[in-house]
Amino acid sequence: MPEPLSSASPPVMAAIHHAAFGADCWDEASLTTLLRDPFIFGFIDEGGFILARAVADETEILTLAVSPGWRRQGHARVLLAAALAEASRRGARQAFLEVAEENRNALALYEGAGFIRSGRRADYYGAGAAALLLWRPLLCSDQPG
Ligand SMILES: CC(C)(COP(=O)(O)OP(=O)(O)OC[C@H]1O[C@@H](n2cnc3c(N)ncnc32)[C@H](O)[C@@H]1OP(=O)(O)O)[C@@H](O)C(=O)NCCC(=O)NCCS
Repeated sequence: MPEPLSSASPPVMAAIHHAAFGADCWDEASLTTLLRDPFIFGFIDEGGFILARAVADETEILTLAVSPGWRRQGHARVLLAAALAEASRRGARQAFLEVAEENRNALALYEGAGFIRSGRRADYYGAGAAALLLWRPLLCSDQPG
């Protein structure tokens, strides 16, 4: 079961992020700084973690990473649901994120969770590497409990 991220989480988060993103990973210092922001929250389990920011009526999924050995076991789906529930509890009414257009696994995850494509940013991740902007409203069924 996912647990809320805490000040003890960054070393494990950094290891997971490195396993998931390689050279493009976020390091422990960056993750520590992000977690000091009261608008930022997330969840972690043995396989992965999710980090999100909720401000006013919207929440942004900042990153989601599952270590290769833990994939296709539902960890990302559960972590995403936990983050959307917490965002809803914090008053968010909609969620958005950016994902690489070529990241078919993540697109399948997010579209399966109800996100729709709301924009495209050419060269967002470098020349020829576009980002898709995904969006979805938060629903009663996202609310905790
Ligand atoms: C994308 C990622 C987070 C998915 O994590 P995961 O724990 O394996 O995902 P889940 O097991 O919860 O899968 C949920 C759904 O996502 C889709 N999905 C996930 N991985 C997939 C794959 N390799 N191929 C096709 N669909 C996939 C499927 O629809 C899946 O449902 P199903 O298993 O019932 O078919 C993981 O592959 C990862 O960390 N990738 C590298 C980092 C990344 O791309 N992060 C997201 C961008 S911010």
